[in-house]
Amino acid sequence: MTDFVSRSADVPVGTTFPWIADGFALGGDYSPEQWPESVWVEDIALMTEAGVNSLNVGVFSWGLLEIADGVFDWGWLDRIMDLLAEAGIGVNLATPTAAPPMWLMQAHPEIATVNQHGVRNSQGGRLGWYPSSATFRRYALRMVEAIATRYATHPALKLWHVSNELGNENAHSYDDETGRAWQVWLEKKFGTIEALNDAWGSAFWGHHYTAFTQIVPPRYTSTSHNPGLLLDFERFTSDALLDYYLAEREVLRRVTPNIPITTNFMVQNHPNGLDYARWATDVDLVANDHYTMGNDPETYGELAFSADRVRGMSGGDPWLLIEHSTSAVNWQPRNRAKAPGELTRNSLAHIARGADGALFFQWRQSTAGSEQFHSSVVPHAGARTKIFREVTALGKTLQGIREVVGSRVQPSQVAILFDYHSAMALKSGAKPTIDVNSLDVALAMHRELTARGIQVDVVHPSSPLAGYTAVLAPTLFLLAAADAASLSSYVENGGHLVVTSFSGIVTEHNRVIEGGYPGALRDLLGVRVEEFFPLFEGDTVGLAGDITGDGSWTGTIWSELMEVTTASVVARYTSGELAGLPSITLREVGAGTAQYVSTQLDRPSTGALLDLLIDRAGLTPVAPADRGLELVRRVAVTTDTDAAPTTWLFAINHSSGPLALDATGLDLVSGTRFTSGGSVAAGAVAVIREDTV
Ligand code: GAL
Repeated sequence: MTDFVSRSADVPVGTTFPWIADGFALGGDYSPEQWPESVWVEDIALMTEAGVNSLNVGVFSWGLLEIADGVFDWGWLDRIMDLLAEAGIGVNLATPTAAPPMWLMQAHPEIATVNQHGVRNSQGGRLGWYPSSATFRRYALRMVEAIATRYATHPALKLWHVSNELGNENAHSYDDETGRAWQVWLEKKFGTIEALNDAWGSAFWGHHYTAFTQIVPPRYTSTSHNPGLLLDFERFTSDALLDYYLAEREVLRRVTPNIPITTNFMVQNHPNGLDYARWATDVDLVANDHYTMGNDPETYGELAFSADRVRGMSGGDPWLLIEHSTSAVNWQPRNRAKAPGELTRNSLAHIARGADGALFFQWRQSTAGSEQFHSSVVPHAGARTKIFREVTALGKTLQGIREVVGSRVQPSQVAILFDYHSAMALKSGAKPTIDVNSLDVALAMHRELTARGIQVDVVHPSSPLAGYTAVLAPTLFLLAAADAASLSSYVENGGHLVVTSFSGIVTEHNRVIEGGYPGALRDLLGVRVEEFFPLFEGDTVGLAGDITGDGSWTGTIWSELMEVTTASVVARYTSGELAGLPSITLREVGAGTAQYVSTQLDRPSTGALLDLLIDRAGLTPVAPADRGLELVRRVAVTTDTDAAPTTWLFAINHSSGPLALDATGLDLVSGTRFTSGGSVAAGAVAVIREDTV
């Protein structure tokens, strides 16, 4: 068995995850337990035909493996593991803890999560347990130890897939045991109850605590909870789930020290949040689940943003797309099927942005159960289908581009800052409007830059920024003092920073910084905001000034009354209550600039603002191309400093017409030479091994 190299260890350059698959990983969640064994034979034949080499197995199978308390039946799993090993297909074996067996729910209903109203979750779903439950943990870790021991030396075992989407359905629980764990967490964090009172400002409404035991989870009240308390409850929840993950990991490490361990993250435009930047240091490879939203006509924009976020979490190391869909999901209000070619574009867009594999949920479409109408690789209609043909073609494409495995995405010129704590702070407590959220502006800016062929990194505000020509801080509501200081030195050293409204407002404790908004960045930006003027649904404000030329820009959702101190006004509001007052500013600091945008610009205005940034900072596209062609470059990792490293240009055309691209090299997808003045056909993807000059 190949020894793995942990991300936390000293990872040699060029390392990917050869322990999982030979080449790019392709495959998905496989639930053989849902089918008679006769179907397994056909499954394996079809997997071989499609080029599948990696499967997530056993994800929800606890009840079929531990059939009664302490009674194990490994028969079916033994047999399928053997068959997969014989077929040369690797298994990412799940610890099946996401769905507890019925006998356990019956014996210990108290392991189930409790909602804010005190109602306990019933059996029948999944992830219905809470991570602070000592009883659940005892049973779950016994199961983990049993499965790890059983398959420790099995040749099919390549990776441990811990549980499933920890925090998805069990992000919060408001039960008493969780409450006690939270008190312990708070005492560890604050040391004294006075420090907590101070941090949360609990004098408000006289919510003063004299002991940690008085603090309960934020259960239902007829008014709102303290924002500091709410934010710490989010952090505690992430830590409680992480602690649970680490407990499983500890068992797996002890029993199988040479098998890498991961768990599937849910990085996408998603309501539940876990502090994945922190989790990422505890997995041996970062693995992400991503599902496109059918009601977004440009869903590939969100996909690109999320994939860049995942790469930021993995520190640029290759990561694994461990779940996505071949076509429609079944959990959106209306589930759009993917258009022909969309599956391929989606998979290759993740790979372009640093994934070294693309797995699907799931292999064979269930006929029963909650997900009977969720797409799969083998649909109800069988293998003679658009989906199966496209997956098989994807398998061939991945073979054709396999030399790209292990390379890294080239460093980007632009960084967008994103932080879980800021996102959670924004959700914690009543705000001036319900329309501002932490992802919208970031995503809008990412989309516009991507459309212009400009590659972006999405990183945590504490990341080193010196290498970036431009940094964007969109709706960074909470900004730690150290991170604000890092932004100041970034600009002083010649960087170009753009900050948008409702950034730098609160401290780590979700307390407002006084003296004029944005308290954390006021001096750097040279503005002092006195008052927020949120807009009503559908209302807009006009903006005009030097930067808008003869035209007019449009602001939505938000506006601000601000005094400009050391910056220059580059646009003013032209309508609404703030007409005539400053709306966008620019402060020059040596060779650097700090721009402030006090509203949420609409799409054309966002594009226009970024065009000006592109000029000011001298940003360049990955390659000259028509607007809209998605471009990312991956670069071979080499220790040979004399030769230029091999580069691969990924060009993805999401439109219905050809898009021109100025590049030369061999297109590994079509097998033909791509020459300057060429174009990428409608809906096509090119992966060009670029000629060296
Ligand atoms: C994921 C989950 C899978 C499956 C999938 C459907 O959130 O991990 O088990 O339910 O969604 O889209």
